[in-house]
Amino acid sequence: MSSTIGTDIHEAARLLRAGQVVAIPTETVYGLAANAFDEAAVLSVFQVKRRPSFDPLIVHIARRSDLDRLVGDLPPGAEALMAAFWPGPLTLVLPKGRAVPDLVTSGLDTVGIRMPAHPIAQALLQELDFPLAAPSANPFGYVSPTTARHVADQLGDRIPYILDGGPCVVGIESTIIGWALGADDRTPDTAQPGRWVLYRPGGIPTTRIEEVIGRVPVPQKQKNVLPMAPGMMESHYAPHKPLHVGNVTALLTEHGSGRSGVLSFSTRYDAMMNEVLSPAGDLNEAARHLFAALRRLDAIDCAVILAEHFPEEGLGSAINDRLLRASFKRG
Ligand code: TXA
Ligand code: MG
Repeated sequence: MSSTIGTDIHEAARLLRAGQVVAIPTETVYGLAANAFDEAAVLSVFQVKRRPSFDPLIVHIARRSDLDRLVGDLPPGAEALMAAFWPGPLTLVLPKGRAVPDLVTSGLDTVGIRMPAHPIAQALLQELDFPLAAPSANPFGYVSPTTARHVADQLGDRIPYILDGGPCVVGIESTIIGWALGADDRTPDTAQPGRWVLYRPGGIPTTRIEEVIGRVPVPQKQKNVLPMAPGMMESHYAPHKPLHVGNVTALLTEHGSGRSGVLSFSTRYDAMMNEVLSPAGDLNEAARHLFAALRRLDAIDCAVILAEHFPEEGLGSAINDRLLRASFKRG
């Protein structure tokens, strides 16, 4: 099979109705979509991506009313979050409704839901009478795709159609927060014990979310519990080449400027290749360019990739999160 790259929303809808897997644009990254209610189609998503079955998928919806059949009781604050950030790059992990197949959620009793803002994703979802389960459209563990061409380069022989919506405007995956129940959170005078926790920093800065629901802590890692904390696998979002994050001048001395490719915010270095994400120093622009730049550095013949720490504000935290995970040594 070889994918067609095209802009035909009806063709994408036809294939999805027939149980096929189709790559779709969203404002964050491209997704690998299937009918969330069709278990055979969802299984194909895991296979195409070579994703382990313990890592659950996000369900994408077009309208607020789609939520009713997908989730159980909404935790406090959920309505306010949806009103503030949907459609947009925020995934909410909510109590799962019975209609959602266990395969989608890897057997968890929660489901991740997101309403994408991309006009083509919206139009496609409006045309379908089922939601779309979709992880990022990259082979498991690799950098997420932000153009149709990125998807074709890696998965082009495994899916029939890539719906082209242009380069993704956010460029980094959605922020994921979930309502977590924990023994230590249960207080006798709250009807619904628990609190919101951050599973993955992403396209909406955590500070903006905290303006709506108050402090959103990062959960403690639990050892030997599956699934590994969502979106929290240490080695992830990774290019094939070694990537080091830190003081680039020092790293260039250590690794040699003639064999290093550098990923920086706004500064050029004396290196084999520079990817400057935002010469003007704009973190939104940097996020938009991050994954394409990582792919270019992975493709040229430098031996290592060296990256700066980005400012820990706005989308800088999500960029740093991805770079640190990309730099984590694989066993
Ligand atoms: O921006 C995005 O979120 C993109 C676009 C395509 O929507 N999707 C995306 O999906 O990044 P994926 O599968 O690459 O990452 C989703 C993360 C996974 O790490 C998964 O573990 C976590 O979401 N997740 C999904 N459902 C969950 C659940 N019920 N509980 C906890 N984590 C969940
Ligand atoms: Mg992913």
